[in-house]
Amino acid sequence: MQAQDRHRVIAIDGPAASGKSSVARQLARRLGFVYVNSGAMYRAVTWSVLNSGIDPSDRPRIAELIATLSLSGVLRDRELHLLIDNVDLAGHLHEDRVNSEVSRVSTVPEVRNVLVARMRDYAGKDDLVVEGRDIGSVVFSATPYKFYIDASPEVRAQRRAAQGHRDEIARRDQADSSRSASPLIVAKDAEVVDTSHLTVDEVVDEIVKRLRAKNLKI
Ligand code: DC
Repeated sequence: MQAQDRHRVIAIDGPAASGKSSVARQLARRLGFVYVNSGAMYRAVTWSVLNSGIDPSDRPRIAELIATLSLSGVLRDRELHLLIDNVDLAGHLHEDRVNSEVSRVSTVPEVRNVLVARMRDYAGKDDLVVEGRDIGSVVFSATPYKFYIDASPEVRAQRRAAQGHRDEIARRDQADSSRSASPLIVAKDAEVVDTSHLTVDEVVDEIVKRLRAKNLKI
């Protein structure tokens, strides 16, 4: 039996600023599942790469670094935080330099292997709502509970601006969708939810309705 078979995993994928973080966090709270933001994990590793003075295009050195980092997870309010060398980098994850380089660092296979293994490990411990780009297509491809959250480019740009972040989401989406390693795609069995004209509560209600229809015991 695979680790992810022992607990339920709800996969929420989608492009940058589609609303998936708010939806995934609130869905996890409503169901009592643990919330895992995989983008935050890729961001934390990217910050460590930059902080070590490594050129983000130097894939061999990034691969070497990830092998030496000590990664651990702590739960706070049923949200998983990835610590790197015992430090929670939450305050650094949306720095401009992280926004600029995270897509590039996350194409390094050794980085993906380490973080994917971590996520699968957590699924052996708890029921999870995991958000990202490849959660339904790769990381937890066996879960029957997959959603692809989308919104129009205009709405996504407005949402990111309202968060006060400067982030070139169109460039990041292009990079994340066109890469060869686990690109952002709509998994063939994912349910697509367009959030452009819905509130977070309405999206969560819709997902809960669809989960019930799939006989998820909640
Ligand atoms: O969800 P986010 O925008 O914070 O993610 C930041 C970046 O991390 C995203 O542009 C690509 C990468 N990422 C990834 O490669 N795979 C995931 N499952 C989640 C994020």
